[in-house]
Amino acid sequence: MTTDGPIFDDSFRARLADLIAWRRDVRAFRDTPVPAGTFERLVSLACLAPSVGLSQPWRFVRVADPARRAAVRANFERCNAAALAAQADERARIYATLKLAGFDQAPEQFAVFTDRSTEQGHGLGRHTMPEMADYSTVAAVFTVWLAARAEGLGLGWVSILDPAEVTAALDVPADWRFVGYFCLGYPEHEDDVPALERAAWERRREFQRFIFDR
Ligand SMILES: Cc1cc2nc3c(=O)[nH]c(=O)nc-3n(C[C@H](O)[C@H](O)[C@H](O)COP(=O)(O)O)c2cc1C
Repeated sequence: MTTDGPIFDDSFRARLADLIAWRRDVRAFRDTPVPAGTFERLVSLACLAPSVGLSQPWRFVRVADPARRAAVRANFERCNAAALAAQADERARIYATLKLAGFDQAPEQFAVFTDRSTEQGHGLGRHTMPEMADYSTVAAVFTVWLAARAEGLGLGWVSILDPAEVTAALDVPADWRFVGYFCLGYPEHEDDVPALERAAWERRREFQRFIFDR
C-alpha cells in the first residue's frame, strides 16, 4: 500500500545540505555520555538503508568491554606505527601530527561487519558481484553518520586496523567481513572542513572533476 509521503520543502533541503556539509569524521570527543537508546535509534535508521536484494547484510557489534576495546586500540597503535613508518619523509612529518582515532574519549564504540553469506535476500544481486553486500553495509554506515550528526553527535571511522585481529578480538564469526570500527560521541568542536584538510594533508576538490560524460 502506498500513501502520500512527507513534503520536503526548500527549507528542509537547505538544512539537509547543512547536515551533509557539517558531517565530519570526528576523532576528538567530549566526555559527555551518549544517552541510553541512542545507539539503537541510529541502528534502526541504518536498517532503512538500501541493501542488495534487501539482504541487510550489516552487523553492528557494540563494544563496551574494556579488554576488547583495549585490544582494538593496541591493534590500531601497531598498524598506525607501521603506516607512519611507510610514509615518505616529508609526509611522515605531517602524518605524525594526525589524530586518526578517538578511542580514548569516545563513549560509544562499535564495529561493523558484513555477513556476505546471509540468506536474507536469497543472493539476489550478489551472483556476479558479491561485494555488493559490503557496499550495502557502507550505505548503512553512512546513514548512521548523518543521523548521528543530526543529533549533534560525531562519528569517527577507524580503518587502520588488521581485520583478522579485530574479528578475533570481538569474537564474531570468522567469515564476517570487517568494514570498520567506529567511535561515537559529542564532538569536541564542529567544523565544515575535514580534519585532514585543516592539517594540510589533503584538500577536497571541486565536484566538477568527479563527473564524466560519455
Ligand atoms: C572507508 C573510510 C575509512 C576511514 N578510515 C579512517 C581512519 O582509519 N582514521 C581516520 O582518522 N579517518 C578515517 N576516515 C575518515 C576520512 O579521513 C575522512 O572521511 C576524510 O578525511 C574526509 O573528512 P570528513 O569525513 O570529515 O569529510 C575514513 C573514512 C572512510 C570513508
